[in-house]
Amino acid sequence: SDLCAQGKVQGQRVFIRADLNVPLDATGHITEDTRIRASIPCIRMALDAGAAVMVTSHLGRPTEGAFQPEDSLAPVARRLSELLDRDVPLLANWVDGVTVAPGQVVLLENCRVNVGEKKNKEELARKLAALCDIFVNDAFGTAHRAEGTTYGIAQYAPIACAGPLLSAEIDALTKALAHPQRPLAAIVAGSKVSTKLTILQSLADKVDQLIVGGGIANTFMLAAGLPIGKSLAEPDLLDAAKSVMAAMKARGAEVPIPTDVVTAKTFAADAPATIKAATDVAEDDLILDIGPETAARLAAQLKSAGTIVWNGPVGVFEFAAFENGTRTIAQAIAQSPAFSIAGGGDTLAAIAKYGIEQQVGYISTGGGAFLEVLEGKTLPAFEILEKRAATAF
Ligand code: 3PG
Repeated sequence: SDLCAQGKVQGQRVFIRADLNVPLDATGHITEDTRIRASIPCIRMALDAGAAVMVTSHLGRPTEGAFQPEDSLAPVARRLSELLDRDVPLLANWVDGVTVAPGQVVLLENCRVNVGEKKNKEELARKLAALCDIFVNDAFGTAHRAEGTTYGIAQYAPIACAGPLLSAEIDALTKALAHPQRPLAAIVAGSKVSTKLTILQSLADKVDQLIVGGGIANTFMLAAGLPIGKSLAEPDLLDAAKSVMAAMKARGAEVPIPTDVVTAKTFAADAPATIKAATDVAEDDLILDIGPETAARLAAQLKSAGTIVWNGPVGVFEFAAFENGTRTIAQAIAQSPAFSIAGGGDTLAAIAKYGIEQQVGYISTGGGAFLEVLEGKTLPAFEILEKRAATAF
């Protein structure tokens, strides 16, 4: 059972790997701090349990052994200090030793500047493990990477376990994908089939409804013999789209193809929008959203779902004239009693825009990690914990 609850953390050196890889603007200010806020419960648990707490994360993709000022977690340290309401010192060059007292927390500078981190070199992993008595991985967003601080340290630390965020993410994904309340519906949208083809193929074996949107839907429309004008599409993936449609058909379902769309002549916020039947798209048209009839039909279809997995906006929702489809889907998910799970950067932006955070069952902090789970892949950083630990933090 739980290490903290058992009092086994008191006075111990606890090394927490969080995913604090947040977007920064050109002046180094954090533009979105969800991941930092999501890391707080684990850090508080460790502090409340009387541990000497070390926290680290990567930020961006720096060159190992060549630290640059823009690689620094300094903005993250400031935000952590505010959220924890206490000083969080930032330590550089920490691999060979960290001094931190029980009841205190330090942030260890960008772990990806350490030589051997990316390739999970044993020498680094052993040094990382020597820093702590207990390793806690709470970095779901980095769980698809087998690196020094996500995998190697978990091999060699005396105790290695999952933190509350990583556990909650895995539980929500398991509930949605491994043991779903059916019907299970997935919405997979975004600009390209190529980046989400493995997701579509993997989900076509699992879900009861597969809804496509965005540029992905354009390729499906093309595969269904519809005109798409000069819309974004990948003609070399027509066969792939057809095989996904066939896989769903074999399971007694159809991939719904838009029957109406919103078009423009240019890709711009102020481009005049025209609603057209899907059969009427002209050669110089760009499809920028699903049409209202399609949106209403999909929303009605989602009503009967028991579980909904959402990745990707179905149109260019950043532009007011082309946001109706995404807003309608978002509201349908919000109103549905189904257990819903959403992930991916654009999806989170849409959830925030339509203010439905409270109505979505679980919002993932993962980008690439969330997509890899949808692809049916396992997460190495979680697998090693399962091998190591029968305990929770
Ligand atoms: C992410 O932002 O998806 C994670 O922090 C992982 O970052 P990475 O793709 O650079 O490993």
